[in-house]
Amino acid sequence: MAANFAAKQLESVLGHGDKDRATQTDISNPDREGGRFADESGEKMKALAWMAKNDVRVIEAGKPKIVEDHDAVVRVTGTTVCGSDVHLMHGVIQQMDKGDILGHEFVGVVEAVGPAVTTLKPGERVVNSFVVSCGECRYCKQNLTTACERTNASTLHEKLYGSRMGGIFGYSHFTGGFAGGQAEFVRVPLADNNLMKLPHSIPDEKAMFLADVLPTSYHAVDYTGVRQGDTVAVWGLGPIGLMACHWAMLKGAKRVIGIDNNERIEFARSKLDNLETINFSTLAKGETLPGKIQEMVPGGVDVSIEASGGEYAKGYAHKLELWVGAEQDTSEMINECLLSTRKFGTVGIIGDYIGFTNHFNVGSLMERGIKLIGCGQAPVHKYWEDLVQMVEHGTVDPTMILTHRFRLDDIAKAYRLQAKREQGLVKCFVETRFSSRRAEGTPELTCL
Ligand SMILES: NC(=O)c1ccc[n+]([C@@H]2O[C@H](COP(=O)([O-])OP(=O)(O)OC[C@H]3O[C@@H](n4cnc5c(N)ncnc54)[C@H](O)[C@@H]3O)[C@@H](O)[C@H]2O)c1
Ligand SMILES: [Zn+2]
Ligand SMILES: [Zn+2]
Repeated sequence: MAANFAAKQLESVLGHGDKDRATQTDISNPDREGGRFADESGEKMKALAWMAKNDVRVIEAGKPKIVEDHDAVVRVTGTTVCGSDVHLMHGVIQQMDKGDILGHEFVGVVEAVGPAVTTLKPGERVVNSFVVSCGECRYCKQNLTTACERTNASTLHEKLYGSRMGGIFGYSHFTGGFAGGQAEFVRVPLADNNLMKLPHSIPDEKAMFLADVLPTSYHAVDYTGVRQGDTVAVWGLGPIGLMACHWAMLKGAKRVIGIDNNERIEFARSKLDNLETINFSTLAKGETLPGKIQEMVPGGVDVSIEASGGEYAKGYAHKLELWVGAEQDTSEMINECLLSTRKFGTVGIIGDYIGFTNHFNVGSLMERGIKLIGCGQAPVHKYWEDLVQMVEHGTVDPTMILTHRFRLDDIAKAYRLQAKREQGLVKCFVETRFSSRRAEGTPELTCL
C-alpha cells in the first residue's frame, strides 16, 4: 500500500503524460470528477470496484456515457476474473484508486456508438481486446497493440520501464486508468479498434476467451518459438499455463510438462491426454524442480514458459524481501526455468512481473546462452483473426477450461476463490442481467 501511495505521489510530481493521447485516459469509474462521465439519464449499474488492498466489492455506479466521438458503450453479457486481477486485489500493482472498476475481459452487445465509430452498430455482439490501443501508432500498425504509444498517460510507467506500454481495461492508472468490464456497462474508447464483432456461431462462453486467455497463451508459445518435436515445460497450470500447454501440443511439441502444486494438476491431466506433470509440493526432500525436469528430459527442455507470476514467492527469503519491499518480484521461478532449460534454449515469461528482483541467476543465463524472452502484455491484435477462426472451426474449444458460472453479484467472492485456487475453479464465466441462456455443455450457475 505504501508503494501504491508513493507511486501516486511520484506521478503527481512527474506530471501525467497526456501529450499525443488518442483518447482520454483515467476514466476508471463514470462517477469520477462529479459524475461527468456518467449517462445523463441517471441510470445506475452494478460494477466490481477496487476499494483498497484485499478489498474488492460490487458497487453501484453511474452508467457510462459516450465521452468521445470514437467511443462505444457496451452492455455486458459476460465477463470473468483473470489471474492478473488477483494481483490487483493483492495490491501489487501500483497507481490504483479507490472506486476503480476492474475487468479486462468481456463480451456484450453494443448499446451506443459515438459519431466517429464506423464499423459497429448498436445491437451487434462484440468481444473486447484486453488492451486499449489506438490502431494508428507505429506499434499498432504492426499489430503490436499492447505497445501502443497513445493510450496510457502514466509517467511512472515510462520512468520505471523505459517507455510506456498501452492501456488495459480495468487495470489501474499505471495502464491508462480505463474502467473495466466487470460491470453491466462499459465505455470502450477507440471502439473500432478495441472491439471485435462476433459471429453468431460463437456463444459468449467461448467468445470471452478471445479477450485475453487465447491470445496470451498462444503468444507465449508463438513468441518463444515452440516448434515440432520440442520439449516444453510450463510453470503454472492456471488458464494461461494450461492453454499454453495445449498450444504447445498443437504446434507439435514432443513432450509437454506442466508444473503446479494443487488440484489444477489433475484438472490439466484430465484435459490434455499426453501432458506430463510435476506437483512441486510433493518433491522428495532434497529434490529440486530443475533436478526433476533434468531427470525427465536429460540436458533440459528446449523451451520453458513461466506462467505463474512474480508475486508467488516460494522460499522464506523471497517472501520476506517481497514483504519488506526489498524486491517487487521473486526470481525463483525464472531461475528454475533457467536451470531446467537446455543450453542455448529459450525461457519465456508470460506471467506478470512488475519491477525489480533479487538473486537472479544471470550466470546461468549468460554462460549457457539461454534466450530470455519477456513476452510482454500479449499483443491481442496480432492473433485475433486467426484465433476467432480457430474457435469457429473448432480447432480449439476454450470452454475445456471453463469450470464455473457465477453471477455478477458474487464476483467479489469469485476473486477470493481465484486467489486461493479453491473449489476446483480454473476459469469462470460471470453472467449479468443481460446474459443469454447458458450455452449447452458449459457449467451450470453456482451461487456463492
Ligand atoms: N502477459 C500477459 O499478457 C498476461 C495476460 C493474462 C495473464 N497474465 C499473467 O499470467 C499469469 C497466469 O495467469 P492465470 O490467469 O493463468 O493465473 P492463475 O493465478 O489462475 O494461475 C497461476 C497458476 O500458477 C500456479 N503457481 C503459483 N506459484 C507457482 C510456482 N512457484 N510454480 C508453478 N506454478 C505456480 C498457481 O497455483 C496457479 O495455478 C498471471 O501472472 C497473470 O497475471 C499475463
Ligand atoms: Zn488477464
Ligand atoms: Zn497505438
